Amino acid sequence: MTAFATHPALRHYWHAVARASAVTPEPLAVRLLGEDLVVWRGDDGQVGALPDRCAHRESPLSPGKVIAGCIECPYHGWRYDTAGACVLVPSSGEGAPVPPKARLRPAHVTERYGLVWLCLDDPVAGVPEIAQDTDRAFRRINMAVDTWHAAATRMVDNFLDITHFPYVHAASFGAAAQPEVPHFELGDLGDWYGYRYSVTAANPAAGSAASGQTTATVQRHMSSGFALPFAVRSTIEYETGLHHILLLLSTPRDDESTYFTFVVWRNDDFSVPAEEVTRLDKMIEAEDKRMLERVRGTLPLDNTALVSVQADKASVEWRRQLRALLV
Ligand code: FES
Ligand SMILES: [Fe+2]
Repeated sequence: MTAFATHPALRHYWHAVARASAVTPEPLAVRLLGEDLVVWRGDDGQVGALPDRCAHRESPLSPGKVIAGCIECPYHGWRYDTAGACVLVPSSGEGAPVPPKARLRPAHVTERYGLVWLCLDDPVAGVPEIAQDTDRAFRRINMAVDTWHAAATRMVDNFLDITHFPYVHAASFGAAAQPEVPHFELGDLGDWYGYRYSVTAANPAAGSAASGQTTATVQRHMSSGFALPFAVRSTIEYETGLHHILLLLSTPRDDESTYFTFVVWRNDDFSVPAEEVTRLDKMIEAEDKRMLERVRGTLPLDNTALVSVQADKASVEWRRQLRALLV
């Protein structure tokens, strides 16, 4: 199995496609699981997400305009509301009946953690839970949604992998990491499934705001967990009691390109600007992106197709569960 993004099972899960703040009455074109959609915010604040293909002559809707909360097709001006119903066919005249088939099937939409999430068919699971989101000791920081020219499967594999730290992240926090990974066990991490480990991390100037420390290295007690299909949660606890939690979200646009964003929760005193406490995370993101955009194609999900070692077992288990979901 190589192609995965158009697999029907993935249509039943929530995928983050945009920052909530980026979804406005201006139409936004997004691509999800090989389908093009138009997303916009209606007059009542509700987000509409429709196939980016008019029912009349299949023009894309995203180059159109939003008028009175409805998306207007740029070709002949048909208008659709956020529920997908065509509410106006200008050539028939105002108030004339609209052909009943002039309707587009909307995607399910929800907003959570400052992001707009879409689900193309009926959801079978919720948005991944981050308990700290409702904990007032924590603040939430949203990052931009970027497009990576890499397969989402390669990205999740990478985010569950700690053995690339001394190599890919040598210029950020990885210089002090030991290449040899101690034995670890996979298990229940509360809502998430994964493993815990500790790393000695370099603490460059760009990272001192994140760690809250100025020593050359810092000890990070970490966990990496996953929620199917493509969410990874990485938690970092410094010895000062500071928690830095990352939700790493990979949304397949198609097999080879992926939206990536991450959300940070921190129990600091909120005084250091968000930009500073995420500077190291952004460096790390750029390092992973540069590495993964060199790796072509999708990740073979069949465990016998690749050589894996004991340190890869989190990814091996995630792939096993993803395979089961796709069967
Ligand atoms: S193609 Fe959209 S109104 Fe004609
Ligand atoms: Fe990485």
